[in-house]
Amino acid sequence: MAKFRKIGVLTSGGDAPGMNAAVRAVVRSALARGVEVVGIYKGYTGLISGELKTITSADVANITGLGGTILYSDRCPEFATEEGMAKAIQTCKDNEIDGIVAIGGDGTFRGATDLSMHGIPTIGIPGTIDNDITSTDYSIGFDTAMNTVLHAADCLRDTCESHARCEVIEVMGRDAGYIALECGISCGATAVAIKELPFDEDACIEKLKELRAKGQRSFIVMHSEGMPKGFGEALTERINIEADIDTRFIRLAHMVRGGAPTLRDRLIATQMGDFAVDLILEGKSDLVVCQRDDKLVATDIAWALVVDRMYKNKLKDGDLDKFTAEQIEAMKVRCAQKKAVLEDMMDVAKTLAKN
Ligand code: F6P
Repeated sequence: MAKFRKIGVLTSGGDAPGMNAAVRAVVRSALARGVEVVGIYKGYTGLISGELKTITSADVANITGLGGTILYSDRCPEFATEEGMAKAIQTCKDNEIDGIVAIGGDGTFRGATDLSMHGIPTIGIPGTIDNDITSTDYSIGFDTAMNTVLHAADCLRDTCESHARCEVIEVMGRDAGYIALECGISCGATAVAIKELPFDEDACIEKLKELRAKGQRSFIVMHSEGMPKGFGEALTERINIEADIDTRFIRLAHMVRGGAPTLRDRLIATQMGDFAVDLILEGKSDLVVCQRDDKLVATDIAWALVVDRMYKNKLKDGDLDKFTAEQIEAMKVRCAQKKAVLEDMMDVAKTLAKN
């Protein structure tokens, strides 16, 4: 504990509502333990260029309800280079930063583990609306993003019902269909398409035809951004022509990343921020804070990154070499659990869409 006089906090990758609550928790938790905090602006970009500022308790007052991130965010390819890392380490030395809390997604954790390897203790906090970090049940921003999508879908439903139309809605989630699936179920979508599970387009058209023949006026079809390029537009065209239902396409895109965070996101972000400070001040490093079965746990970042690649079928040669048989088994179990959750939800979505 005596070792830590100053820690840094940064947000990196795609922003997510609730990141500000996590920043506030890190700042206030550290200050309460007598540890100074510097904000690192624009993620790893700011660590390289030295864009830092001491953050006071007053600086983080009244920010839990703000969307975006007061520390700004960036994706920083330079950080993956030796020169970039050398500059970042130098910034830490020049500013006497003893450890870093990094809030973001898998790219953020890759950066965090690199910093840890270079002697800067770093703890990751999951923040991404996609909720696609396999090692945790929940990542900051997911609930707010889903509520934003749900609101949009409800609005679209109103006008579809008035005009007897169908709306095909694309939502964010490059690698993960959680937003599409959970929002699709919650807004009563007729069909949901995500890249992780098979989608029968012909069956979707037949179902729409059948429901229209029975008198249903409005329809929502939701799909994740991870589907092949042009999927939503092509499906819209097919529904128009083959089902003879007036159909429009909408891509909600970045709109879903903004807005005031929900209670759930503010609360979990606060708990994760506080827990991350506990970990770093206990001398721990190279860990990511995860929520599993409603508890916060610390997971080895290397394990978290590889289980994520395993789940997304992106394992690289040698990825599993440094893990024990038990660790690899635990990864497989985790992936199977995640997949089962998706499959169960898709079954529910299909069952409830029948009429
Ligand atoms: O943050 C994750 C994510 O929202 C993905 O769903 C999406 O593909 C990506 O960010 C978009 O990133 P950018 O803001 O860099 O366009």
